[in-house]
Amino acid sequence: MSKVITLNEFIMDRQADFTNATGELSRILNDIAVASKIVSRDVRKAGLVDHILGAHGATNIQGEEQQKLDVIADEQFIKAFENGGEICGIASEENDDYLAFQSETAKNGKYVVLFDPLDGSSNIDVNVSIGTIFSIYRRKSEQGSLATLDDMLQKGNEQVAAGYVLYGSSTMLVYTTGRGVNGFTLDPSIGEFCLSHPNMKMPETGRIYAMNEGNIDICESGIKDYVQYCQSFENDKGAPYSGRYIGSLVADFHRNMIKGGIYIYPDTTTSPEGKLRLLYECNPLAFIAEQAGGLATTGRERVLNIEPTRLHQRVPFFTGSKNMVEKAMSMLK
Ligand code: AHG
Ligand code: MN
Ligand code: MN
Repeated sequence: MSKVITLNEFIMDRQADFTNATGELSRILNDIAVASKIVSRDVRKAGLVDHILGAHGATNIQGEEQQKLDVIADEQFIKAFENGGEICGIASEENDDYLAFQSETAKNGKYVVLFDPLDGSSNIDVNVSIGTIFSIYRRKSEQGSLATLDDMLQKGNEQVAAGYVLYGSSTMLVYTTGRGVNGFTLDPSIGEFCLSHPNMKMPETGRIYAMNEGNIDICESGIKDYVQYCQSFENDKGAPYSGRYIGSLVADFHRNMIKGGIYIYPDTTTSPEGKLRLLYECNPLAFIAEQAGGLATTGRERVLNIEPTRLHQRVPFFTGSKNMVEKAMSMLK
């Protein structure tokens, strides 16, 4: 049996790959790991605790009902970032505006983090997998000053690191710093994330498609054509694919990372920009997808090339196995 490699050790070992690394990024990743262990603990007992489970009674800027765990997770991560010392500001799906941290230490931080504290929150009450998604950038503004909106509105290809935590049948943390993707599983008995999925590669093709097909009639015809292709005996596999849709992007994405597949959330007549958020969901997962050999596009262009114009911007999202995303794109007019 080989030695267990903890996330902590792994991050430290990898730090040596970056010349001039000062350890700041490593400390951010460690802070994320600690915060996600706390959130994981809360998620695990959600069904037991009345004050954790259920609607919080408020709605976020996008008009969606916030769940208590959304708020709890948001606060937990913000606390970790604000007190970590490396981060000057954050933007989160759950907050209307970005936050510039006020302390002198934070103002000297070189990085910003954008995140979706709890993804798939409509699945909390029904005990289905949920996740956290994060994206780390170097700030654009000067160190020593307050973080600015420009620090937050950077193209995805500027990310220095990105990752997700999946609170599934086990809790996993998957991240990239642009040198491949590695996955760690939380061993609750020792409280450590342990390297379980080294150098993750998304299969080039697969036979699973994930889409909310309830929307099929409000999608453009190319999407209908592609879904019909997935369901046909005339497709590249000679048999219908399996449809799988969890409704937690992180969980659907993670399954495709491992088994191969495609995830589609297109624009619709009712959501002309799509549903998923560029900064908190699509960019970080796009970085991971590409690092694992997969693709992430809007159906027409590479997600990581989009110049963001606003914090809560949404985009259509096609991600997963390279050959499948290319095929879907070829069917859009
Ligand atoms: P969030 O819970 O962070 O608001 O994200 C929900 C997202 C994503 O996780 C999921 O894939 C998608 O919304 C589901 O949307 P539909 O219910 O429209 O299919
Ligand atoms: Mn989400
Ligand atoms: Mn969310």
